[in-house]
Amino acid sequence: MGCNVSDTFRNELMPAVDVAVIGSGIAGLFLAHRCVQKGLNVALITKKNISTSNTNWAQGGIAGVLDTEDKDAIEAHVKDTLSSGAGLCEEKVVRSVVLEASDRIRDLINHGVRFDKNNEGEFDKVREGGHSYQRILHSKDATGEEIERALAKSTSGEIDERFTILENWMAIDLIQKEHGSPGKGIVGVWCLAPSGTVHTLPAKTIVLATGGVGYLHRSTTNSSIATGDGVGMALRAGADIKDIEFIQFHPTSLAIDSTRPFLITEAMRGYGAILMTEHDIKNWKDSGDNHPENYSFMKKYTHMGSLGTRDIVARAIDSELKKNGDKHVFLVTEHLDRNELIEKFPNINQKLFSHGIKIGIDSIPVIPAAHYMVGGVTVDHYGHALASEEEMPGLYAIGEVARTGLHGANRLASNSLLEAVVYSDRAAADIIQKSQLNQLQQLSEDIPLWRAENLVTLIEHSPLRADLEALRTTMTMDVGIVKSNARLRRADRMIKHLENEVSYIWESCKPTQDLVELRNLIQVAKLVVKASLERKENIGLHYNQDLE
Ligand code: SIN
Repeated sequence: MGCNVSDTFRNELMPAVDVAVIGSGIAGLFLAHRCVQKGLNVALITKKNISTSNTNWAQGGIAGVLDTEDKDAIEAHVKDTLSSGAGLCEEKVVRSVVLEASDRIRDLINHGVRFDKNNEGEFDKVREGGHSYQRILHSKDATGEEIERALAKSTSGEIDERFTILENWMAIDLIQKEHGSPGKGIVGVWCLAPSGTVHTLPAKTIVLATGGVGYLHRSTTNSSIATGDGVGMALRAGADIKDIEFIQFHPTSLAIDSTRPFLITEAMRGYGAILMTEHDIKNWKDSGDNHPENYSFMKKYTHMGSLGTRDIVARAIDSELKKNGDKHVFLVTEHLDRNELIEKFPNINQKLFSHGIKIGIDSIPVIPAAHYMVGGVTVDHYGHALASEEEMPGLYAIGEVARTGLHGANRLASNSLLEAVVYSDRAAADIIQKSQLNQLQQLSEDIPLWRAENLVTLIEHSPLRADLEALRTTMTMDVGIVKSNARLRRADRMIKHLENEVSYIWESCKPTQDLVELRNLIQVAKLVVKASLERKENIGLHYNQDLE
């Protein structure tokens, strides 16, 4: 490993803020905006630019019932969420989130989010896997991008001396009030500035809104920023991490080699697209029948067919691919109206066209890909992070990084944007109230600076890249949709080896973004494997063939 002895490694103390928000997806932006509006001093730390987040890549939409008087519709949303969660959802949490959907969706609309409407001027609601009927508001096939656009726009209106946006900055670790005593609270965060300097940011409140860990797998629908940073930081600060073995694979990512992964929204199946193997397609075409669903392999796996819940659909595809030796299955749209498809899914149409696939004419090759971290930092009703089930003063987790109890063992499609905005609102209200009652943490003068002694500059990054690839390969091969004890133990050994390598570098080198991310990825991977070995029952997204 090429290293240079550090001469000018600087360690800067920044002015204290009321709230440090880490992450700029829907959860982080929504909360930052609320807090700034109430006069709080906020710093928002984001690894790339303000609109680089998993939210931005979300195609589907936000599930929710707008009419709170419609008890049947509310009950059906609760029932679908519970059933998708395979018995592990916390029903109280599910009910409260579903009930708040209407207010939070209206908040988004007030922020300027434009959800699609039909010819009658009513919101156009679509259906996705596991939903018993159409209840998802969307903006064409790019809902996340529209939400980010509107929130980033309203946030930019708030830019003043109370609001600092730190783009291309990365949070490294949370600063504990008393090192080794998580119960005593978090009083700031060490961050890596674009210059390579580590800054100490004292904060009365820290909000993790860092998203998930899709980048652990080679095939993912997430952007490369999804490296489990929030879980890594919270874990090292002593927070409770739960349900992390439930990694959700989205059944339909485009199976064409490309530098950027591409999701084919489940809303397309909600619109009538059907999952089929090559063999199914041949049978269907030979039959002359206009109903491809009668020939789909999915009928063998669930009565909901192609619109089953994600755990079932992804596992069914995995099983068919293994059985037939195929590289992918297909999403069939040939029986649907091509013009309507183009109108409803313009981004997908454009992407497919760039690969020579004509929507409504050609079948679309798809495979499952890592999509969503269902577990995470355990939080209470207000998004407070918990350590040994007690609130950790000063620390909140919202959005994908949080484990709220809503999703159980398998998240229902389009419940994630809903959860993010509900918990963001609650956490913001709690922080604002604490500030008004003068109950935010008091910060002392002697906040510790980052350890800077004898750190050297890491010159060669290629060993880190090789370790990253080894980690992603291990997770892809050994900790995928179907697990086994032998493969999990193999992954455990590999990850421990990588952990030793990276710890050695970590102790002696100045941090870089690659190093910080790899350390987080490894620590989260280790947790996923441990939790998978400990879970003794196949449920939801956790499937170990040795437990059959
Ligand atoms: C999709 O559009 O299929 C993804 C929506 C989600 O993950 O909830």
